[in-house]
Amino acid sequence: MELNIKASFAFLLLFLARLSDARHQRRLKPPSLILPNMAHQVMEISSKNLSFNFLTNSTIQDITSQDSKLFHVNVNGCRNLTFIRVNITAPPESINTDGIHVARSSNVNITDCVIGTGDDCISIGDELEQLHITRVTCGPGHGISVGSLGKTPGEKPVVGVYVKNCTFINTDNGVRVKTWPASHQGVVTDLHYEDIIVQNVTNPIVIDQVYCPYNQCNKDISKVSIKNVRGTSRTQDAKSLLLCSKGVPCEGVEIGDIDIAYNGKEGPAKSRCENVKPTFVGKQNPPVCALELDHRLSFTNLL
Ligand SMILES: *[C@@H]1O[C@H](CO)[C@@H](O)[C@H](O)[C@H]1NC(C)=O
Ligand SMILES: *[C@@H]1O[C@H](CO)[C@@H](O)[C@H](O)[C@H]1NC(C)=O
Ligand SMILES: *[C@@H]1O[C@H](CO)[C@@H](O)[C@H](O)[C@H]1NC(C)=O
Ligand SMILES: *[C@@H]1O[C@H](CO)[C@@H](O)[C@H](O)[C@H]1NC(C)=O
Ligand SMILES: *[C@@H]1O[C@H](CO)[C@@H](O)[C@H](O)[C@H]1NC(C)=O
Ligand SMILES: *[C@@H]1O[C@H](CO)[C@@H](O)[C@H](O)[C@H]1NC(C)=O
Ligand SMILES: *[C@@H]1O[C@H](CO)[C@@H](O)[C@H](O)[C@H]1NC(C)=O
Repeated sequence: MELNIKASFAFLLLFLARLSDARHQRRLKPPSLILPNMAHQVMEISSKNLSFNFLTNSTIQDITSQDSKLFHVNVNGCRNLTFIRVNITAPPESINTDGIHVARSSNVNITDCVIGTGDDCISIGDELEQLHITRVTCGPGHGISVGSLGKTPGEKPVVGVYVKNCTFINTDNGVRVKTWPASHQGVVTDLHYEDIIVQNVTNPIVIDQVYCPYNQCNKDISKVSIKNVRGTSRTQDAKSLLLCSKGVPCEGVEIGDIDIAYNGKEGPAKSRCENVKPTFVGKQNPPVCALELDHRLSFTNLL
């Protein structure tokens, strides 16, 4: 499969990226790519399929990316970068077609985007500070994923991910955090999810520190809040999951209003947690952490 930036926009993007070394703002709208500081900017077309590297104070808006072979958009080494109305589509069965992958960047905003692929809508790699994901509609695919982190030595932490007013439709997960056992302390801090709608989602919330095959995870996830999540889940089982490692539980997890319905034969939705004692605020339906977890396999299978 190939990625096509709609119509001639691809040429426009490449043209701008290659020719412009301007330090002033360029504005073309719509669609437009605003690249005010191009001094260290490299934009390459690779298997990724669009890469934005070392951009500062820039906006990418009103483009569509379709059927990339692998990741659609890769963001690396950027500061103050905004994506607005960037839509991404790929068939649900196409693996590794992540919508936007962001790593080694700070202050990145992804706003008013519609992303549906066969993999993560947005995937978050290491060394990331301040990512705001707002009014993004996600699905099909795996949802918004942080990690896997902690696998490679020398990785830097993810600090400050804010997912607000996002909708997940027909995704496997809503928000998911994956860390590996070898991960050092403070790998992921400050994760905040607010005003989230889930429709036919298998696991609306998964903090999977148990993605930890040898059960040796460190205290690597802290300061998490999940507020006002509502909608429906695809299965009765495994809803609003909070799985943290046995040795060192997740810390500072706060759960606000949750209202997730399951209308199947088996009865109401269930929710289970492990190694986490959240602070509760507001009402939770199903009651979060009401069930003990009896096996973990179903979650590791989703990776
Ligand atoms: C996307 O990648 C494919 C191959 O992986 C390539 O043929 C295509 O030209 C790329 N699309 C763009 C817009 O660069
Ligand atoms: C980015 O924008 C801010 C605020 O307008 C400005 O202070 C800063 O110098 C800009 N950074 C670069 C690298 O152009
Ligand atoms: C992205 O999708 C939204 C909602 O369907 C639509 O309003 C917008 O025009 C689309 N943007 C592009 C660039 O196609
Ligand atoms: C990012 O934007 C903020 C606010 O406009 C500004 O203070 C800061 O200098 C910018 N960062 C860079 C690396 O340009
Ligand atoms: C991203 O959004 C946040 C919250 O709305 C805002 O504080 C920040 O300045 C925005 N950053 C950029 C690069 O636009
Ligand atoms: C997010 O949704 C809430 C509740 O529906 C609404 O009050 C708020 O204005 C929305 N915020 C944004 C940034 O869209
Ligand atoms: C729920 O999601 C599954 C898997 O994506 C899909 O096969 C099914 O059609 C969806 N159901 C509805 C009612 O959309």
